[in-house]
Amino acid sequence: MSKISYVNGRYIAHRHAVVHIEDRGYQFADGVYEVIPIAKERIVDGDAHMDRLESSLSALRIAMPASRTVLNTIIQELIAINGLKNGLIYIQVTRGVAPRDHKFPRLTKSALIMTAKSTKPIARDLLENGVSVITIPDLRWKRCDIKSVSLLPNVLGKQKAIEHGAFESWQVDADGNVTEGTSTNAWIVKDGVILTRPRGPEILGGITRESIITLAIKNGLPLREQAFSVAEAYEADEAFLTSSGNYILPVIRIDEKPIGSARPGRITQNILKIYREYVGLLD
Ligand code: PDD
Repeated sequence: MSKISYVNGRYIAHRHAVVHIEDRGYQFADGVYEVIPIAKERIVDGDAHMDRLESSLSALRIAMPASRTVLNTIIQELIAINGLKNGLIYIQVTRGVAPRDHKFPRLTKSALIMTAKSTKPIARDLLENGVSVITIPDLRWKRCDIKSVSLLPNVLGKQKAIEHGAFESWQVDADGNVTEGTSTNAWIVKDGVILTRPRGPEILGGITRESIITLAIKNGLPLREQAFSVAEAYEADEAFLTSSGNYILPVIRIDEKPIGSARPGRITQNILKIYREYVGLLD
């Protein structure tokens, strides 16, 4: 079955899915995106993703390209026609197509594309043995809460991680505190308390992060939204990272230093189980 994508009102074969060369997303990164997980054909945290899409668009003064109902219908269509069981829906909205000029064009309709990607279950090896991260300076702008398609520092940071044999880079602000990963939120556990940086312009308000906070509180797990330094992360008992793409992955090394016993920790495993249950991925 050939993969089908959605481009500005049409469902078309993915290999023929193209946008105009003067799409402002292409020339100025003048747009935003969402990555929404699909687990067993069901949308995970759909409303929260739509809320974030709306707030990212509003920060850029771009109107929602369609109502939520219409956007959800397109997502459902893509799930159905691509036979998507587990995977990701990618949504991108840009200010649209106009002759290249920095200021907002006067008469432009925003551009909407969506793709569906099927994913394999997260590798057991990663879940059972954890991953390594490195730390890098955070070179990004001051509105990381907007899910902008401008991702150059993130791309360079992820590549650096891969070249160092790590899974992810944790970005570090001028005060030596961890902001977040290049495409994930960062967490540590110290003395039984789960810590993650509070929401603010320095991080993306991850949807997985938000659900985990809610689930941790509901399950009586001590949690504080509090920034932590790289030095504190080295001394942590456990660490993990979260995103729509990977859900939760234990982190067992930071800058090659073992975290705790260099094995996925007890609290991390507990939250992993609770979250997988919530998403419906526990067999
Ligand atoms: N990335 N921080 C950054 C910088 C991110 O890009 C992401 C998501 C997250 C986690 O957010 P969420 O839990 O809502 O996925 C945190 C997506 C998956 C991506 O760019 O592919």
